[in-house]
Amino acid sequence: MTSIALIGMPGSGKTSVGRLLARRLDCDWVDCDHALEERIGCSIRAFFEQQGEAAFRDIETQVLADLLAQERRQVLSTGGGVVLREANRALLQQRAHTVYLRVGVQALWRRLRTDTQRPLLQVADPRQRLTDLFTVRDPLYTQTAAHTMETGGMSSHQAAHLLAAQL
Ligand code: S3P
Repeated sequence: MTSIALIGMPGSGKTSVGRLLARRLDCDWVDCDHALEERIGCSIRAFFEQQGEAAFRDIETQVLADLLAQERRQVLSTGGGVVLREANRALLQQRAHTVYLRVGVQALWRRLRTDTQRPLLQVADPRQRLTDLFTVRDPLYTQTAAHTMETGGMSSHQAAHLLAAQL
């Protein structure tokens, strides 16, 4: 049975929608960032600070490949940068039904402006950083996903309900 992978920017609702969707589909839900933190034994933020982004991306690819090798159906909430690597995009296209939860930069910023946990936003101008990330990633999310859902104006419950009806 094909797993469902949710991709999208930090703050796009991958975690909350994923949890609700798995409940509706009566299957397991896996948060890839949690699985990764279990593997590295510390927070992503600490790992970023100590080992850097490239080391993080290597482990992210291993975790994604391991999760997508499972035969059972599951909903995966991925990390926002998972589409940066070609190998990850191929895995998401081949081994999952991948859905892009698309939220525009303004709505993302409203959700993330007080966030202190996401290492990529711990910079002098996080709003500009978010815009830059969106510009690079939006086409990658679109090309990787089997379909895109515009979820900026929706609650997590509405998005999960709509998505479950489309699967
Ligand atoms: C990242 C997003 C994070 C996490 C890591 C890197 C990114 O996940 O994987 O901090 O590159 O955008 P969320 O999308 O759940 O915040």
